[in-house]
Amino acid sequence: MTLPSKESKKEFVQEKFSSVTARYDFLNSLLSLGIDRLWRFKTVRSLNGVSGTILDVCAGTLPLSKEVFRQTGCNVVALDFCYDMLAYGAKGLGVQEEGHIHAICADGERLPLCSNTFSGFTVAFGIRNLADLPSGFREMYRVLKPGGKGAILEFSRPSAPIFRDLYRLYLHKVLPRIGGLISGDEEAYRYLAESIQGFHSQNEVCSMLEKAGFTDVTFKPMTFGIVTLYSCKKPDTACS
Ligand SMILES: C[S@@+](CC[C@H](N)C(=O)[O-])C[C@H]1O[C@@H](n2cnc3c(N)ncnc32)[C@H](O)[C@@H]1O
Repeated sequence: MTLPSKESKKEFVQEKFSSVTARYDFLNSLLSLGIDRLWRFKTVRSLNGVSGTILDVCAGTLPLSKEVFRQTGCNVVALDFCYDMLAYGAKGLGVQEEGHIHAICADGERLPLCSNTFSGFTVAFGIRNLADLPSGFREMYRVLKPGGKGAILEFSRPSAPIFRDLYRLYLHKVLPRIGGLISGDEEAYRYLAESIQGFHSQNEVCSMLEKAGFTDVTFKPMTFGIVTLYSCKKPDTACS
């Protein structure tokens, strides 16, 4: 498949996540052999000692929002523009989580939130789906308090020659079939494969973060480079 154009991407992404909502969490665990939990655990852990309110952008069915609350006890604002994903996740919240995780249906590239509000932000498997990534980063920067930290988890491409080829085979041949069979929407999982293959390199993501104003930008590949964890900070001296 060819990836959707920038103009049609939002509508396409919203529709695809809506169509796989009920099977999303199960397929995530199945297709990653359960390692996705460890990746989210490490993402939250990288915020290291953060306290206050955390914004989880592209929160989907809230798996990362729940992990943020579990590890930090912080209040979480969970934002996503796909109502079905958010509503499905909100239904699965426990009593304690309900009082601390607040879902907002909105566009991550135009946050309906005040500047300098959050102590930290997280994004898991979301930045690849944004139609305008620099706008998304500028918005995350704007709503973060000076000194606030960001943790971004995203798929990347392994670099070791043999593993890279095997992974590409898995992405394009195995993943869409299993994903399609279980979710009923093979195109959604073809999009997943193509969007991973076509996404920016780690260095490109880091320079976009720096361009948005973030400092202390680092990245750490995990699980042979299948995913990468990016860390960043809004300078203590920043005024907006
Ligand atoms: C792969 S899911 C990730 C869900 C969750 N963070 C996780 O850890 O599994 C990506 C989510 O990004 C959301 N998304 C994509 N573009 C968005 C945008 N511009 N604004 C808000 N949410 C967006 C989609 O609706 C989808 O729920």
